[in-house]
Amino acid sequence: MPKNYMIGNWKMNQSLTEIETFFKNVKLEDNQNNFWIAPQTLHYSKCAELAGPTGVLVGTQNISDQEQGAFTGEISADSLMEMGGHFCLIGHSERRSLYGETDEFINRKVAKAIEKGLVPVLCVGETLAEREANNTLSVVLGQLKSGLKDISLNNEAELIIAYEPVWAIGTGKTASPEQAEEVHAAIRVLLEELYGETGKDISLLYGGSVKPSNVKELLGQTNINGGLVGGASLKAEDFSALCSAC
Ligand code: PGA
Repeated sequence: MPKNYMIGNWKMNQSLTEIETFFKNVKLEDNQNNFWIAPQTLHYSKCAELAGPTGVLVGTQNISDQEQGAFTGEISADSLMEMGGHFCLIGHSERRSLYGETDEFINRKVAKAIEKGLVPVLCVGETLAEREANNTLSVVLGQLKSGLKDISLNNEAELIIAYEPVWAIGTGKTASPEQAEEVHAAIRVLLEELYGETGKDISLLYGGSVKPSNVKELLGQTNINGGLVGGASLKAEDFSALCSAC
């Protein structure tokens, strides 16, 4: 069985005071190391310190594909590991659309993360125009095939996939549980093709305007194993509610 996760993507949000308030108020039941937060990288240490007693695990929103050296502004996988990091988001649609990240580049980052022992949360998703042109599955499966090119796994815990339709991110428009499940089921088939038995147990998260009011219905779908959440992960009460639904 794939493990369920709830992952907060804080993007470029949260002041230090807001972070302190968040960790003071977050209440997590039945924590099985499956509640994760990706703050701004500058806040990584502070979050890791405050998150300790709550059991929330902390990661980053991006990672470098390079080992070390003259790469101004990049985040080193080795340094994140040294700091006790657990995971990194890779290929979020904002990285793809605003910063020009390509599938090949994303593939190198996935390889680097796994090589270093970080769990990559590989994000994929179609734009509204792609959905309206009936290209959803070809776009999403194409992003996955490229992002996972030559990536081998020892076990299912080494990789998480997040399906996030671009038109649902930060818009308040969630994919219906059926729309999301259709894509998740197709992703599951591809993962089984690529990884055999291991592919059956890789966690598939849905992202895009997930909130306490719609999370249960989404998680009720066969192939939805949790959420990657932006806006609703910023407030402790909402994140706590999302985690208890998980
Ligand atoms: P949202 O963001 O929950 O605010 O739609 C999700 C994401 O970008 O990961």
